Amino acid sequence: MFSRISRLGARLLREARAETRAGNLLSSRGSLYQGHVSQHSTPLVTPTVKSMSNVLFSTATSGDQDESNQEKQVISVTFVNKDGSEKTIRVPVGMSMLEAAHENDIELEGACEGSLACSTCHVIVMDVNHYNKLEDPTDEENDMLDLAFGLTETSRLGCQVIARPELDGMRLALPAATRNFAVDGYVPKPH
Ligand code: FES
Repeated sequence: MFSRISRLGARLLREARAETRAGNLLSSRGSLYQGHVSQHSTPLVTPTVKSMSNVLFSTATSGDQDESNQEKQVISVTFVNKDGSEKTIRVPVGMSMLEAAHENDIELEGACEGSLACSTCHVIVMDVNHYNKLEDPTDEENDMLDLAFGLTETSRLGCQVIARPELDGMRLALPAATRNFAVDGYVPKPH
């Protein structure tokens, strides 16, 4: 009886030790696993000085690009008045030179308000490079230009010249006179 009890006690003791070893093993593997994760995850989770500087740099670059894009949405155009004085204005992309002139108190008449029924918005593009970047005039615009005073090789109707990024820096001269047949009762001669 005593020997059975002592064998049972010894068995319980072995099992308890075995459980303890297994627990220690698990615990130590857990530590190893944590060590493994922390060893490899630290650089991924915690931003280094270099990666932070990249973030800051890329943010600044993106901001610069936004600023640059915004800059391209507005172009600079200089109007040269009849008396030779100049006025440089900022014109949003998509706006006609006639609208831009009116918004900036520049004396460009535009009697028909852009409906291609007059030539009072006649402007002379002073730089042939900018002139060549314009859309070709339509037949209707050419017909009206034929009636304009002081027609030149680089004449256009201001209501038909629309601001585009590539026109940045364009200079437009206002002709010395305009012919407003809509108001003066001028009837153009047939060609
Ligand atoms: Fe009349 Fe331009 S405003 S044609």
